[in-house]
Amino acid sequence: MIEILQGDITTLRVDAIVNAANESLMGGGGVDGAIHRAAGPRLLAACRKIPEVRPGVRCPTGEACITEGFDLPARFVIHTVGPVWRGGDSGEPQRLADCHRNAMKLAREHGIDSIAFPAISCGVYGYPRDAAAAVALSVLSEEGALTRTPHRIVLCAFDAGMANAWREAVQRLHIAVTSESLE
Ligand code: APR
Repeated sequence: MIEILQGDITTLRVDAIVNAANESLMGGGGVDGAIHRAAGPRLLAACRKIPEVRPGVRCPTGEACITEGFDLPARFVIHTVGPVWRGGDSGEPQRLADCHRNAMKLAREHGIDSIAFPAISCGVYGYPRDAAAAVALSVLSEEGALTRTPHRIVLCAFDAGMANAWREAVQRLHIAVTSESLE
């Protein structure tokens, strides 16, 4: 089932939290910065071990990779790189859908049963909240996605605006949502 929370994703006691990273995986601001701060320096060291697929790129946009969570309560961090919003006609919705699909695929491959997503691309990368919410929820509620692992999917908004965008998307898509506890 899908839960919508408002709070700091680094505090969540789930098997994996998803990081909205950049293609270098060398950290940044926003949720990426918060996760690296909370996980400690071993996270950056683990990311550095991920081979570059081309100069400066360890994780191409839309793809996902997994590391341990180190000092985080979460056992794993699934790093994914969302698209930078360029108006919506450059494949952004498809890349954002890929982020969610690939994160869920990695979670399944690692027996992860609870996973928390931030609002990927909705900060520095400028993706409009409502459009991003619709993409995320349509992927996460895709046929069968809610019956297989991970059984607990948390959407963790840092602000009320994003939490509401997810709630409205849930209503529009008629998705069952469990507790909507606010932290
Ligand atoms: N917990 C949950 N959500 C958070 C947190 C947090 N601690 N901190 C920020 N957020 C939210 C933001 O409010 C936003 O809604 O995460 C969402 C994504 O915003 P960004 O972190 O800016 O990520 P994104 O838009 O995908 O841009 C990625 O920013 O930090 C850099 O290295 C990162 O270059 C990459 C780019």
